[in-house]
This record gives sequence, C-alpha cells and structure tokens, in this order.
Amino acid sequence: MYDRAAKGERAVLVQTVRAGDSDAAARLDEFAELAASAGASAVARVFARVDTPNARFLLGTGKVEELRELKLANDADLILVNDTLTPVQERNLEKFCECRVVGRTGLILDIFALRARSHEGKLQVELAQLKHMATRVVRGWSGLDSQRGGSIGLRGPGETKLELDRRYLRGRIQQLQERLDKVALQREQTRRSRQRNAIPTVSLVGYTNAGKSTLFNRLSGADVYAADQLFATLDPTLRRIDGLPSGPFVLADTVGFIRDLPHDLVAAFQSTLAETRDADLLLHVVDAGDPERDQRMADVDAVLAEIGAAELPQVLVFNKIDTLDDAAPRRDDVEGGRQPRVWISAAQGLGLDLLREAIVEQLGRDRVRTMLHLAPEQGRLRARLYEAGVVQRETPADDGGWALALDAPRTRLQALFGLGDGDGGFLRGALAGVAASHGAE
Ligand code: GTP
Repeated sequence: MYDRAAKGERAVLVQTVRAGDSDAAARLDEFAELAASAGASAVARVFARVDTPNARFLLGTGKVEELRELKLANDADLILVNDTLTPVQERNLEKFCECRVVGRTGLILDIFALRARSHEGKLQVELAQLKHMATRVVRGWSGLDSQRGGSIGLRGPGETKLELDRRYLRGRIQQLQERLDKVALQREQTRRSRQRNAIPTVSLVGYTNAGKSTLFNRLSGADVYAADQLFATLDPTLRRIDGLPSGPFVLADTVGFIRDLPHDLVAAFQSTLAETRDADLLLHVVDAGDPERDQRMADVDAVLAEIGAAELPQVLVFNKIDTLDDAAPRRDDVEGGRQPRVWISAAQGLGLDLLREAIVEQLGRDRVRTMLHLAPEQGRLRARLYEAGVVQRETPADDGGWALALDAPRTRLQALFGLGDGDGGFLRGALAGVAASHGAE
C-alpha cells in the first residue's frame, strides 16, 4: 500500500543533531549524495534535535508528526534517517508515518549491494544485509511485505523477503559465511604466495566515487599481464602490473570508503580490507573538485586507522583535475617526500606518468643496497637471488665464489629470506647470517 514506481524514489531526509554538533549541514549534504547514489531524490530535508533520544522513535514526537506531514505533502515514498535506528524505532516510525523508514546502515548496505563487483564483494554485502535484516525480520514485515525489490532498503536479499522466515535466514547466513570463508582462504593463499614471491601490493583507497576504479583500469589497462591467471580469475579487483623500474607489483582496488562506515560492514569486508592493511603502499584517491575534500580525506584516514593501515606509506592522488580551474597535472611534495601529492585526471589520462614516478619512488624508497659474498657451494642461493631479480651485478671472488651487489626493496629481501620486521641495518647482518646458513647446500 506504500508502493510507487521503483525508479526515482522520493525521500524525506532527516539529519539528527546532538548537542555540540557543528557540521550537521555538511552531514546532511553527504547523506543526500548517498541517497542519490541509491537512486532516491530528496524532496524534503529536516534537522531533528535528539539531545535526549526518544526510545520509541529516536526523534521527538513533535518531529515525528512533522515527518508524517512532510511525507504526505511531498508525496514521498520513504524517510531516510542519517543515524542508527534500532529495529523497534524503525518499526514505530514506519507505522506512524505509514511509509518505509531506512537508517544510515540500511542505506549504505543498499549502495554497496548496487556497487559490489567481485564475487566476494557480493557475498560480503549479502551477508551484511541479511545480518542487518535478521534483527528486523522478527517484526514480520507487517504491511510492508507487498513491496517489490528495487527500492532502498529492500534491494538484494530483500527481494525474497516473503519467504524469509528466521530459519531460512539462519541457513542462508551460514551458507554465505561458509562460502566466504572459502573465498577468504583462497585470497589468503594468493596473498601468501605474493609475499613469498616478494611482489609488493599497492592498494587503492578513497572515498566512494573518488575515481578509484577508473584509475585502476587506467593503470592496469595497457600493462595487464594477461597470463597471470592466478590474479585474473580469483578476483577481478587485483591486477599484476609489470614494466615499471621498481619491478612488478599487484594493484588492488578496494571498496569505497564512507564516513561512519557501519561496523557490520567493516566486519563483513575484513578480508577485502586485509588487502589494504597488508599493502606496501596506498594510493589515496581524492576527488579534487569536491568541496568536502578535506573532510573526506579525514574520513578515509579514520577508516584506515580502524583497520590498522594508518601508518602505511601513502601517495595522495588528487583526481578529477579536469573539473578544476587549474587543470595542469603536477606534483607537490610535503613532509620531505614522504607523502607525495600528485594531481591527475584518471578519466582523461592526465598526470599518470607523474603518478607512476611517485609509485616507483615510494616502492623503491626503502631499498637495500648491499654486497653479499657467496661461497662456491652456495650456487642454489645465487640462483634464487637471480630468479628474484635482486642481483644488480656480480664479480667472481678469490675463493671461487661470488661477490653479489644486491639492490632491492627491503620488504622484498625480507620476504625472500623469510625475515620479520626489524630496525636499522639489521638486514645486512641478517643477510650475512642467511648466507652462512645456506652454506651447506
Ligand atoms: P566507488 O566504487 O563508489 O568506491 O567509486 P570509485 O572511487 O571506484 O569511483 P569510479 O572510478 O567509479 O568513478 C566515479 C565517477 O567519477 C565516475 O562517474 C567516473 O567517470 C568519474 N571520474 C573518475 N575519474 C574522473 C576524472 O578524472 N575526471 C572526472 N571529471 N570524472 C572522473
């Protein structure tokens, strides 16, 4: 009975405001954009103070009445609340306003359902949606059951909601979990094999819509190593990139970040996010023309901190310079080159060489250049080092062995020799130790 055409849903947006909130207007703008990405247009926007949250509605009763009127006056299909609603509050609001009510988590899950690209991503979103739904299904979807899929909060598994009894839900959740565990295991195995082969990972991160995927395709397009089935088939969001002087690396595209990413979702995306946490370098893609750019960079940094990736080296990639007045690609270095900023347009292919240079530089930043002496009986170790491409030159030694000049990123040597992290010039000593221990080959 609350139905209308699925396309272009009309939504009343509600932004809650608590004591001391200073950026409610910006939050509401961001929320409106999220709503738009889910296919809804904002027909009315309201602020609602929740200094003392109302257990029944979250919002005060006066505000709830206002919402019902706004909904009627604007012929809206649903109400979107930029806050966390309990299932009870959601149900009460729906009953009172006689329309669907979706909170921030529901909306974000919906967008993720639309955007999930990889098999794993799709499973992850479905799992998070079902878990979110499991708390709400208890209420039996009274009065709202008749709606078709394709509407916010009902997309994805919502389409089959009529058959949803709790047993079905439990079974499906378990099945998804098992499948995901399998995919995560496979992913873990490829990651280990990459580590064994000392191939660094460069991970694209950024606020949703910053242009990560566009850049991913740009960077990998011409250089995709087609025979690399391992990465090509398992997950379309990993590509091996060859042809740069720093050696091959794996480029990983990740899910778009969002302010206040719901915790359920962070948990569901654990294995995807691990790709970021274990990366050697992050390309933090920013929409340079976004008026909220600084806030969004901070939002991304907050998620990075949450998943333990805050300390990784970053290249800040200001994308979409074609939308700025000054559309010239350039590079600024701050903090002594530790965090280069490169201004590019992924869509128009501007500044990509500057970006590649910065990647090569950052990957090569922590390079170890050292001499290693190998005895004549260490031929196998010598072959391994050549295979890994870390030998720069070699001279015969007096004892019939070799003096090798090694030149490679520290991480690559560490992985090659199975060493852990450490400080200072430990690697030199460790290498000497490794060379000695390989003496009996
Ligand atoms: P999520 O999947 O939501 O995380 O987005 P994303 O960061 O992967 O962004 P995506 O590559 O999908 O790009 C988002 C939008 O920005 C698309 O409409 C792109 O065409 C556009 N876009 C990407 N790069 C540029 C650019 O350099 N200039 C302009 N003007 N638009 C761009």
